[in-house]
Amino acid sequence: TLSSVATFPVGMAVTAGNEYRSFLGMPEKQNVLKTHFSQLTAGNIMKMSYLHPGENSYTFDQADAMINWAKANGLSVHGHTFIWHSGYQVPTWMSSYSGDFQAMLNTHVSTIAEHFKDDVVSWDVANEVIDENGIEGCWRNSLFYQKAGKNFVANAFIAAHAADDDAELYYNDYDTEGGNSAKLDCLLTLVDDLLAAEVPITGVGFQMHVQIDWPSIEAIGSAFKAVADRGLKVKITELDVPINNPYASTPFPQYASYTEAAAAVQKARYKAIVEAYLANVPAPQRGGLTIWGIWDGDSWLHTFNERQGVDDWPLLFTGPADGPYEQKAAYFGVLEAL
Ligand code: XIL
Repeated sequence: TLSSVATFPVGMAVTAGNEYRSFLGMPEKQNVLKTHFSQLTAGNIMKMSYLHPGENSYTFDQADAMINWAKANGLSVHGHTFIWHSGYQVPTWMSSYSGDFQAMLNTHVSTIAEHFKDDVVSWDVANEVIDENGIEGCWRNSLFYQKAGKNFVANAFIAAHAADDDAELYYNDYDTEGGNSAKLDCLLTLVDDLLAAEVPITGVGFQMHVQIDWPSIEAIGSAFKAVADRGLKVKITELDVPINNPYASTPFPQYASYTEAAAAVQKARYKAIVEAYLANVPAPQRGGLTIWGIWDGDSWLHTFNERQGVDDWPLLFTGPADGPYEQKAAYFGVLEAL
């Protein structure tokens, strides 16, 4: 299985807590996790609004239940994420906070890191804070940037490290895996600034919500290498590969159904991505590989791409909604590469 052959964590994002189809209520999902994976990421329930719904109130119950299951079954947990600007992920009280914003953010990070310090092995400290068309070059015009200025990222790493000095600390983003060279440059500038300031960053998380035909494998390999060359770890944090590229000029050019040919192309793509990871990141710098969802019907891409009803088969397993789930060709592509 993936977890038995890999020399680094092989992770899965899960719906948990009160979410629809939480894995905690689904034995067939638990079977997949126990059999094939060694790490969990909460797909949602460890984001800001879930853990910190009021300035002075934190809700850890749902995450703790997920973590207890992981511990009982020998899986580690990757934390996602202390800071993310996106829509409803920011608690409403925080959006209108009028006090010392940086001090409040430091407390947010350190309280959560402290709570999970025995159970969470690594964190996405900040998610998606850069923008290649952003302010002062590369800063996303987020609430955090507006209210705390550009040191909020460095400060988040420092606060996390002070609360939990053995957690691995990652900066996580999308579209940095080589297809968008301006954004990759922004990432490298951010990382170089953090390193120059001796901020305790362990590595970079590449989300990798990629396409079947983009970015090229060469571009992906160079992006990994650029980070590895800086002595940092590289973690693939949210991999999924839909069979059709919704951004292509002809929207669904390749496959209208999950044919054997489609499965083979997807298998080759997953395999090549993992091979690029192994070829460009030295073993001690491999932070792991996480897939963003268990089976095709669960993928966030269906709603994100606003194409409900159009299936993309982006993940490693298929099957009926309640399972049992079956390994796809893509699964064996990853396995062969490992
Ligand atoms: C997604 C979840 O999968 C969805 O369930 C939710 O509605 C929105 O967020 N980048 C990230 C993840 O860092 O947190 C996002 O997860 C997918 C994109």
